[in-house]
Amino acid sequence: MNLQNLSPTASPAQHRGIVLLSARELDKMRQVGKLAAQLLDYLEPLVQPGVSTQELNDKADRWIKSHGAVSATLGYAPANHPPFPGAICTSVNEVICHGIPSPKHILKDGDIINIDVTPILEGYHGDTSRMFLVGNPSATARKLVEVTKEAMMRGIAEVKPGARVGDIGAAIQEYAEANGFSVVRDMVGHGVGRVFHTEPQIPHFGQRGTGVKLRPGMVFTIEPMLNEGTYHLKFLRDRWTVITKDKKLSAQYEHTVAVTEDGFEILTLP
Ligand code: MF3
Ligand code: CO
Ligand code: CO
Repeated sequence: MNLQNLSPTASPAQHRGIVLLSARELDKMRQVGKLAAQLLDYLEPLVQPGVSTQELNDKADRWIKSHGAVSATLGYAPANHPPFPGAICTSVNEVICHGIPSPKHILKDGDIINIDVTPILEGYHGDTSRMFLVGNPSATARKLVEVTKEAMMRGIAEVKPGARVGDIGAAIQEYAEANGFSVVRDMVGHGVGRVFHTEPQIPHFGQRGTGVKLRPGMVFTIEPMLNEGTYHLKFLRDRWTVITKDKKLSAQYEHTVAVTEDGFEILTLP
């Protein structure tokens, strides 16, 4: 999500304006997180050359409804954005994030695509995304995808009580840049729970020992976007689609993560 569109929320347990989820709420987050991961498992074999991103959207939408959930992205309209028209985001090649599904966008051999899903189940959001290879992408594309996944995992591994938000970003940035890729600055991870996008913001770059201190019960996404070229981005005229300024490739992975008493729990696993 953009830096601007995070809204604070009211909820019983908080620390410095950041919601701390109860054991009962974490259980709800586990349920919806698992559902989100299973949706990506369902979509994986459908990603093939010749398939349109609209077909993926429509199958995802039906799957979400048939599991008693609704999509958080469909009609989502934060400040300065028109309502998002998709049940999922489909971001292909130079699209960094928030790609809009379209019947005109047919996947072709060599594409890389991020599918980002956020079902809502019993009021709680599960937010996760993965990359999928269409046919046989270039070695560079495959390396970008692998490095992005590992960068996310290294960010997640920093999560424990007492660690700081800056530790997460530093771990991601160090690994990305050591592999010759850049980290998108203007889009961040975010607190998630009853609200889709809330505090804290989780930048995917930064300095160790800086930023908000993590506490058990905090739940947020870690969703690094890595670029083949520079980290600069631009918005398309639809005011949603974010692309690389240099039109080179971008990749993203996302998990929703809870801070536990002794570390972290990834909530968006199948
Ligand atoms: N799921 C995205 C995220 O990770 C947000 C998508 S909002 C949409 O924060 F409207 F573009 F779908
Ligand atoms: Co997402
Ligand atoms: Co997110």
